[in-house]
Amino acid sequence: MAHVEEADYIERDDIERDDIEEKIEEMQELIMKYSAAIKEVKTKLEILDNEFKVKRKRNPIEYMKDRVKDPKSIMDKLERKGLEISFNSAKENLNDIAGVRVVCSFVSDIYEIANMLKRQDDIKLINEKDYIKNPKSNGYRSFHMILEVPIFFSDHVEPVRVEVQVRTIAMDFWASLEHKLYYKTLGRDAEAIRFELKECADVICQTDMKMQNIQKEVEKLV
Ligand code: GTP
Ligand code: MG
Repeated sequence: MAHVEEADYIERDDIERDDIEEKIEEMQELIMKYSAAIKEVKTKLEILDNEFKVKRKRNPIEYMKDRVKDPKSIMDKLERKGLEISFNSAKENLNDIAGVRVVCSFVSDIYEIANMLKRQDDIKLINEKDYIKNPKSNGYRSFHMILEVPIFFSDHVEPVRVEVQVRTIAMDFWASLEHKLYYKTLGRDAEAIRFELKECADVICQTDMKMQNIQKEVEKLV
């Protein structure tokens, strides 16, 4: 009998191992697909930036950052939203598994770059949020788009979603620090800190406007 039980255990271990291997493979596939979509979007943005440089002698994009949401964050978000925790559920319900952050020189560059990108034939705009015209109550500013790009695999084409956040250097500076501070103040009475952060966001907005006006003046000189 002992031998039978032993065999039982081995079989169960094998099943579990197969299960885990399958999940790992699904995870690798998911990361591969979303990384491909990030590459597509970034290449499009680089082309626009290069064209802009040739035609107007300056680069509207200062830098870009990108990330594929890590598996733990994907699970946490699905759980938080009360959604099923599975690969399909993540693909269907989460629009920010792939993220590209585009940091521009001036506010007007944000709209130019965003408009040029969403006008492209192979890009489908799923949703956009203009947190520059309508800043969040904490002062957050950025232009957000959810885009869908077709990815060509060996035997099929698949639309993959990417969240694109476009902002100025100043907005990025504020958002990066606010993000860190926000987590440290969670659950605490930090009204004064939040007020000061909002004030900083507004000062930054004014500075962005001033910088844009200076840029326009400089452009007239050259
Ligand atoms: P999520 O479910 O959190 O992704 O929000 P959403 O689907 O309503 O999207 P939204 O466009 O409002 O925000 C998406 C992303 O923008 C966030 O994941 C952050 O990266 C960024 N973001 C939005 N609001 C803030 C904010 O108040 N502070 C900072 N630092 N970042 C923000
Ligand atoms: Mg998000």
